[in-house]
Amino acid sequence: MNPRLSALIDELYAGGVAHDAAEPDRLRKRRNLEPATAALLGLIVRIAGARQVVEIGTGNGFSTLWLADAVGDTDGRVVSVDTAARDEARTNLARADAAQPGLAGRVELRQEDGGGYLARLADESVDLLFLDAERVEYPLWWPHPSRVLRPGGLLAVDNVLSHAGEAARFLELVSGEPAFVTATIDVGKGLHLAWRRGGGHRET
Ligand SMILES: C[S@@+](CC[C@H](N)C(=O)[O-])C[C@H]1O[C@@H](n2cnc3c(N)ncnc32)[C@H](O)[C@@H]1O
Repeated sequence: MNPRLSALIDELYAGGVAHDAAEPDRLRKRRNLEPATAALLGLIVRIAGARQVVEIGTGNGFSTLWLADAVGDTDGRVVSVDTAARDEARTNLARADAAQPGLAGRVELRQEDGGGYLARLADESVDLLFLDAERVEYPLWWPHPSRVLRPGGLLAVDNVLSHAGEAARFLELVSGEPAFVTATIDVGKGLHLAWRRGGGHRET
């Protein structure tokens, strides 16, 4: 990430913190991904060589910018889905593209329900799926968050420590899937990672 994009990201995050402190309605808060979580996620995209990245929960595009920067190193693309119209995300993507040319061209923003979008995706078509929407909805989307991941693909779920109760049912579904190797990382609000074993794996 170049210094101009980094400065924009810092500005957006600070703006989000100030906005959220003054906004009593939870659903109107920006609730941007914690920068440490975003940085880790960006690194994971690179380490995994993830090219088909799907994000559910665009918000104002803060996490999308991190993912878009990361797929610049994997020759990948990001589809980010949100039920709400995301004019702010479009504006922020355009600003990020001015700071780091080429970034916005790697992103497709879609306005629709995340569960409906996942249900239409082909089996094993996603390298990394990042869930940052409403935790209680994720179990309703099952089995698609698992089905769409290619062998060797990764599921990442934020807020599993900050909202452990809401995330519990979904994490039960994930841990009940033998193909997943999982870990919860105590970063930011808590990031759960589930790696889908490759097709050639044998149980020991
Ligand atoms: C925590 S915010 C996302 C924050 C964003 N990832 C960031 O780092 O700035 C949650 C977002 O999920 C969206 N959302 C809630 N339910 C959804 C659903 N069923 N499908 C897609 N998006 C949904 C909300 O509109 C909201 O923008």
